[in-house]
Amino acid sequence: MRGHVDLPLALDREAPVPLSVQLGNQLRDGMRTGALRSGERLPSSRGLARLLGVSRTVVTEAFQQLYAEGWLEGRHGSGTYVADFTRFPSGPETAGEAPRNGGVTTPHRAGKGLIDLRPGRPWVRDYDDAAWRRAWRLAADRPPSDVIDPYGHPRLRELLADHLRRARAVPAGPENVMVTRGTGHGLDLIAATLLRPGDGAGVEEPGYRVARYVFAARGGRIVPCRVDEQGVRPADLTDDLRVLYTTPAHQFPLGGRLPIPRRERLLAWARRTGAMVVEDDYDAEFRYDVAPLAALYGLDPERVVLLGTLSKSLAPDVGIGWLVATPDLLAKIARTRKMLGDRTSGPVQEAVSVLLERGDLDRHLRRMRLEYARRRAAIVEILGSRVSGDSAGLHVFLRLPEEDVAPLLAAAAVRGVLLHTTERHHHGPVRDHGLVIGYGSASLGDIRKACLVVAALLEGR
Ligand SMILES: Cc1ncc(COP(=O)(O)O)c(C=O)c1O
Repeated sequence: MRGHVDLPLALDREAPVPLSVQLGNQLRDGMRTGALRSGERLPSSRGLARLLGVSRTVVTEAFQQLYAEGWLEGRHGSGTYVADFTRFPSGPETAGEAPRNGGVTTPHRAGKGLIDLRPGRPWVRDYDDAAWRRAWRLAADRPPSDVIDPYGHPRLRELLADHLRRARAVPAGPENVMVTRGTGHGLDLIAATLLRPGDGAGVEEPGYRVARYVFAARGGRIVPCRVDEQGVRPADLTDDLRVLYTTPAHQFPLGGRLPIPRRERLLAWARRTGAMVVEDDYDAEFRYDVAPLAALYGLDPERVVLLGTLSKSLAPDVGIGWLVATPDLLAKIARTRKMLGDRTSGPVQEAVSVLLERGDLDRHLRRMRLEYARRRAAIVEILGSRVSGDSAGLHVFLRLPEEDVAPLLAAAAVRGVLLHTTERHHHGPVRDHGLVIGYGSASLGDIRKACLVVAALLEGR
């Protein structure tokens, strides 16, 4: 393109589709087909508007939408460029999923200056730099080793068991704990150990798509299990599941907290059918205004495997998580790891051990609990009782009529806010429509601004 548009752009003023949408579609097609290549610079919005004989707003709206979807990126002071797709194997829409939501794709990252309310990301900017450096210095004191322990470093297993007893009332000793690289990895180890081709693998619907992908990749037959505002519904579960993936502390993405009677019914179902319940305790360290509910694992360690992660409490790229189970099941999983040649990095385990041992992780958690509590309070204050699922974690849910979702997303993107929806969390047809508002990765000020935009749009302003 280099300063001039050599794409045949033609806008039809008579068409029922808004000009900005037409322009966005044509540019998107150009990028899809390769007519516009990664790294190419687009003309300025003013230049393109003049060329096409439309108002500048038409062009800026189209650009905003493409920014929101990740097709474009801005470089400070030097214009608008086609994003570098080589970093995203299947183009801006990740994991090869077809865009849903009437073609309004879910963005994978924010363009410059946009506030991104994506769920699943923690705040990684406020960490204790001195503690972090000390952990790595001390980890480096230990020489590299040729020993791979499939259970993880004994010291870290002990520290994690202690952490879990204190933070989540999990009745576990080091013999119950295996160190993993995170939840996705733990899911894969469970699937590789327990699933045979065609086995029923229950996953909450809507639910965490990594669980679906991992179970399916290991040959599981995915069985979507509907959830409501409280979480999974034991009465609906069929008898033919080998495993059931669930998030009882804070359902992902609707946010329910599984009440005790349902927990008991769920475990009765598992005992009766022989299914193994996989409890993803991903963000339970963060809880607001509600009495603590211990992890499900403690109610029946024979029928539950608990998965935890540092991805929310510290940072996803540390790559440390844990899997808690009976020693028998852990031994089976350890054999799987050996067969797969699988391991968790020793130096990383060392550094994390230091963070736990010295109380650095606890201090970080205390600070972050306060920070997230403030952000969550701001969301509830601005969006009020429209939001639900706000008792824990780093995201809330805002239910909307289906037809309101796509226009709201587009209008918010134009005003600089990237919203995310429940669309991609469904395996089957989308039934729970609405926004999943993450407050991990945007600052308190940005969250306030973004929620005011959402509130105004909801009120039709
Ligand atoms: C439901 C759920 N579980 C677990 C995780 C963390 O996974 P991992 O430990 O593999 O980073 C996430 C992260 O977004 C999540 O949304």
